[in-house]
Amino acid sequence: MPTLFQLKITDTIHAKNEDKQYLCSMNMYAIKSFIEFYLKANTHYNVQSDFLHDFVNTVLDTDKEYYIFRQLEGIRAWLKQSNQTIPIQDFGAGSHKLTNNNRKVADIASTSLSRPDKCRMLFLLAEHYHCMHILELGTSLGISSAYLGAASSKAKVTTLEGDPILASIAHEVHTRANLKNIHILTGPFSETLPDYLSNCKTIDLAFIDGHHQKEATLRYFEQIKLKCNNDSIIVLDDIYWSKGMTEAWQTICTNSDVTLSIDLFHIGIVFFKKELSKQYFPYLPYLYKPWKIGLFS
Ligand SMILES: C[S@@+](CC[C@H](N)C(=O)[O-])C[C@H]1O[C@@H](n2cnc3c(N)ncnc32)[C@H](O)[C@@H]1O
Repeated sequence: MPTLFQLKITDTIHAKNEDKQYLCSMNMYAIKSFIEFYLKANTHYNVQSDFLHDFVNTVLDTDKEYYIFRQLEGIRAWLKQSNQTIPIQDFGAGSHKLTNNNRKVADIASTSLSRPDKCRMLFLLAEHYHCMHILELGTSLGISSAYLGAASSKAKVTTLEGDPILASIAHEVHTRANLKNIHILTGPFSETLPDYLSNCKTIDLAFIDGHHQKEATLRYFEQIKLKCNNDSIIVLDDIYWSKGMTEAWQTICTNSDVTLSIDLFHIGIVFFKKELSKQYFPYLPYLYKPWKIGLFS
């Protein structure tokens, strides 16, 4: 039986391995963008507003562990061991890593899903801000939606996926995790998103994680924004995946309804809170910039 200390060490090694895998998988554009991002990134020592301070401490800079994290990572490990090969329809911008239309579930689980640290952050975001109406664009095998659904059994998560085979595996994942508050809508976003929006009153949290193209991302953002309230949060994945995705992210940050935008490099988060002043905040954990202790910035 491992001690708490051993578990912590294992987690730290996993986190470092995740970072290593992420850096190795980056394309040239992403590497160049990372250098620019790194030079301007702040750490928690540079946080000035109370809201941001609370966000960083509760959602980003925390090693809070929940039992469900282990359970969901167990399901991810099960997917990574699957022998199943499935035909995949490409609805979005494709994959930098997987090009064959017949793909192993194990390969999808290893390359196309949000990593554990990102999933934990989504869980903490949904939990901390009591998000009840959650929308995800891009279900794939259902791991990130499982984290979102696990944050509160009272929340309703709707996740959109074009590929029916992926959607059925995601449903199995949600059933294995005993999550009954996740609803999958199958079909292209161009059809399922307007359908969903026409029946929803408000969105507290949206995670856009599919169809990584500039025009599509901006279109989904504008459509979702119409259902946002003052406390809504929109999370955008892979904002440095391509030049177009970065342009979409920059356009969103400058949108007049967006006040705070937080750039975590692999992900961007925007808030609409009118009580906050407009701010773009690129953030890296202190560990990666140990000298950045707020004395000179
Ligand atoms: C990166 S994966 C989602 C990963 C998932 N959110 C996770 O982290 O566990 C993106 C998914 O979006 C789906 N997708 C992309 N563009 C789409 C579109 N235009 N309509 C419907 N589904 C789409 C793809 O089929 C793919 O399964």
